[in-house]
Amino acid sequence: MKVLITGGAGYIGSHVLNLLGEQGHDIVVVDNLSTGRRESLLYGRHEEFDLNDTEKLEALIKEERFEACLHFAGSIVVPESVEKPLEYYDNNTINSFNLIRLCRDHGVNKFIFSSTAALYGDSAPGGICTEETMVLPINPYGRSKQMTEMMLEDTAKVTDLNYVALRYFNVAGANVDLKIGQCSPNATHLIKIASECAAGKRAGMSIFGEDYDTKDGTCVRDYIHIDDLAQAHVDALSYLERESKSAVLNCGYGHGFTVKEVVATVKKVTGVDFPVEMVGRRAGDAGILISKAEKIRSVLGWVPKYDDLELIVRTAFEWEKKLK
Ligand SMILES: NC(=O)c1ccc[n+]([C@@H]2O[C@H](COP(=O)([O-])OP(=O)(O)OC[C@H]3O[C@@H](n4cnc5c(N)ncnc54)[C@H](O)[C@@H]3O)[C@@H](O)[C@H]2O)c1
Repeated sequence: MKVLITGGAGYIGSHVLNLLGEQGHDIVVVDNLSTGRRESLLYGRHEEFDLNDTEKLEALIKEERFEACLHFAGSIVVPESVEKPLEYYDNNTINSFNLIRLCRDHGVNKFIFSSTAALYGDSAPGGICTEETMVLPINPYGRSKQMTEMMLEDTAKVTDLNYVALRYFNVAGANVDLKIGQCSPNATHLIKIASECAAGKRAGMSIFGEDYDTKDGTCVRDYIHIDDLAQAHVDALSYLERESKSAVLNCGYGHGFTVKEVVATVKKVTGVDFPVEMVGRRAGDAGILISKAEKIRSVLGWVPKYDDLELIVRTAFEWEKKLK
């Protein structure tokens, strides 16, 4: 298939690019390398420009006649979105608006969108989110993504565009073959940061908030291995080829770990102790976010292979040691 991938040099996009590239798809990646890395582009042709350059984007989409678009590009740091809301609406919502419009105008009718569990905010009873859980984001990042889902839903109703919005829970780890991994500069992802500590790249780390209503007071998240998440995109693309239907699907395993449990697992798996400081809550963090994960299995036939926190941590750590 002829595929456009935005943000393909980033953490998640590069793992999906790797799988789709292995399958022989004809791929063009648009990425401005703001947080992505050229070395992560193992397949496809790279067009280095910002998605806000709608003239360039339109010329590319017109010229290439893509069959599908996978849209990963965006800004992803929740506390930063609280500080700079308009920048987040700009990069996540306005750029998505233009991309969806150009896909509609030029017949790209299969669209896969990187959405997020942040859409649920604190609205799910017990933090267990089904796709029917009320969408009530508590930070600009989540709202910027909610608006993109709304645009896709409304567009799909009146055009032949079908989409799959994948609501990722906490993505972690590296490709099991260590071909690729997370390179994000200044990452805020817990397992990445703890692995950096274990690899001696950071002196220590902080845990934000010890007074949440959870078993040890720290936040609970559902950690999904990056290769399983990448496979979900391949399955979503097959689904869009097979069915003329859209879907909104959670991507998680259906169970969670507290921050303290994750840090303890990193120390155990790596055999390295490092300083951990308890500090106050961070703006925009929900207490518990766990996916109810049945729908993606039944709709896409997705079968996760790496639902194992120790394996997730091991791949993250091995990658961290390899990463220069
Ligand atoms: N990492 C997670 O745990 C997580 C969870 C939920 C949702 N998501 C979503 O998944 C997507 C990918 O996340 P990631 O973790 O790979 O982030 P990332 O920062 O590693 O990747 C984003 C990529 O998009 C590129 N980019 C950003 N803005 C751009 C622009 N205006 N024009 C062109 N390229 C641009 C960056 O250079 C980078 O390569 C994001 O949309 C994010 O919101 C991620």
